[in-house]
Amino acid sequence: MKAGIIGMGRYLPEKIVTNADLEKVMDTSDEWIRTRTGIEERRIADDNTDTSDMAFAAAQNAIKDAGITPMDIDLILVATVTPDHPFPSVACVLQERLGAKKAAAMDVSAACAGFMYGIITGSQFIETGVYNNILVVGVEKLSKITDWNDRNTAVLFGDGAGAAIIAPVSDNRGILAFELGADGTGAKHLYQDEYIIMNGREVFKFAVRQMGESCVNVLNKAGLTNDDVDLLIPHQANIRIMEASRQRLELPVEKMSKTVQKYGNTSSASIPISIVEELEAGKIKDDDVIVMVGFGGGLTWGAIAIRWGR
Ligand code: UT7
Repeated sequence: MKAGIIGMGRYLPEKIVTNADLEKVMDTSDEWIRTRTGIEERRIADDNTDTSDMAFAAAQNAIKDAGITPMDIDLILVATVTPDHPFPSVACVLQERLGAKKAAAMDVSAACAGFMYGIITGSQFIETGVYNNILVVGVEKLSKITDWNDRNTAVLFGDGAGAAIIAPVSDNRGILAFELGADGTGAKHLYQDEYIIMNGREVFKFAVRQMGESCVNVLNKAGLTNDDVDLLIPHQANIRIMEASRQRLELPVEKMSKTVQKYGNTSSASIPISIVEELEAGKIKDDDVIVMVGFGGGLTWGAIAIRWGR
């Protein structure tokens, strides 16, 4: 039994903060941010909107899109490093708000690779036949752990949520192969003390190497080549890192999803947000082969090759 994605939803805060807005409050420039990261603007949640509120909105959209009800959900996995509280988990808050009374619930902590970890963790329960419908959410309110006096990090991040329903799908569709990995020796390069602390250059080098390698690995495991790939959806951290993975797969520009210019780096939410963007643009069709790849603090990484459709 193969697990696949049968519904998607997202939520983005309304407030847009442009590079020009940041120029007014810190020593930076639109030119620097654009050329070094590809980011033009990002969404920032207001004080009354916490992580669980964004997760709830995205989850409702995914449930509707999948054509199921909250009572059909067996497990809720929320990938986040910015929960409302250390506990209860965001997943438990969601369980109550959705009325998903039959669902088990827990959060997954794998930073920007969190959505990859969540999808693969959930898919094990589907493929063993234990559960039928699993809600996986990638959500971050990074603005609350961003040091707005640190231009090295403040210009990079944004808030948002993306959600998927995973379930058994027909024979040729669903998750074809995956790779998850971690290297705790790199923990010092990206972590939260009070705020996000990052050694940008080290994370950059790691990301460029790992994203390309993981993409190649999942294609090999799935018995596919780069010619089979219809769309690459990399974690939207920095256009230069994303470009490196696209070039490693020798894909044309139009075969890579790019939303970083509009939303910045939304960590675990960036891949599901991009999936919804591509679905709405008609760029994902049934039976397309999609490669998703993420990396983040931990250090962690994950890649999935999936044949789209129910
Ligand atoms: O989801 C995972 C999260 N993390 C990442 O994805 C981060 C990965 N790393 C990166 O994306 C890049 O390393 C950055 C975008 C963070 C930085 O780009 P870079 O090309 O590696 O720049 P740099 O760190 O080498 O810094 C170049 C210069 C420095 O000035 P000096 O020392 O050369 O005089 C910085 O102080 O740019 C300066 N700088 C800025 N200038 C204007 C750093 N941040 C800014 C800023 N505005 N916001």
